[in-house]
Amino acid sequence: MKNTILTFKKAKEDGKKLSMLTAYDYSMAKIIDESGINGILIGDSLGMVVKGDEDTLSVTLEEIIYHTKAVKKGAKNALIVSDMPFLSYHVSKEQAVLNAGRLIKEGGANAVKLEGGANVIGQIRAIVNAQIPVMGHLGLTPQSVNAFGGFRVQGKSEETAKKLIEDAKLIEDAGAFSIVLEGIPAKVAQLITDSVSIPTIGIGAGANCDGQILVYQDMLGMFNDFVPKFVKQYANIGSVMTEAICSYISEVENGSFPEEKHTYKIDESELNKLY
Ligand code: KIV
Repeated sequence: MKNTILTFKKAKEDGKKLSMLTAYDYSMAKIIDESGINGILIGDSLGMVVKGDEDTLSVTLEEIIYHTKAVKKGAKNALIVSDMPFLSYHVSKEQAVLNAGRLIKEGGANAVKLEGGANVIGQIRAIVNAQIPVMGHLGLTPQSVNAFGGFRVQGKSEETAKKLIEDAKLIEDAGAFSIVLEGIPAKVAQLITDSVSIPTIGIGAGANCDGQILVYQDMLGMFNDFVPKFVKQYANIGSVMTEAICSYISEVENGSFPEEKHTYKIDESELNKLY
């Protein structure tokens, strides 16, 4: 069954946890979708895990559209949420609506996600008014890495925690259907989750959010440049891949690959004409 924003709403009402993962291509989206995930995010984390950058800031709208198109073809049931990259919504409400619209029209997303609180409420309201579902994103919002002075856990003081709670309420009031809470203390995430009627999706925000999201390369053990504290590696696919690739290399080198069963045939009569 196709997950929609109504699935997200009902899950919060029923106290059922929501699961989300990122994906950036067709094959991976298909595997994740067929596993029964609620939502797939084409995250601007692709700047780091696909492009190899140090942060997410260089990601463009065109790149998110390109990857959304691929994910869309592989994911039949998950709600598809596309990230709005840095500076694709900060300039004006008009810019935000037009760019969110491109993610829907050209990429095929079902919803968009953008980072920020009070500073982007006008944009959230304008996008929602254009009939595009919005997922908010608060806490350690990676597009603010320079403003934060690094990737730092947010909401650790009374003042900053209160601001996160206020921002979450503003985001709900502006019409968002859900909010990602990233890199904040679990107790603060719980307070936010209890303060809003839309589902919170946590990453590094403890177990009391309404759902969880992880970057798939992190949870499958495929990205080891750094492994944040909040990541659980459910498998070590990176080493399985290395092992398989090493076997391939040695079989190519010793001539045991390809075998007869991997090769195409030509009729003897046709072959003889070539000599
Ligand atoms: O870009 C991304 O993948 C994200 C998630 C980590 C929430 O924003």
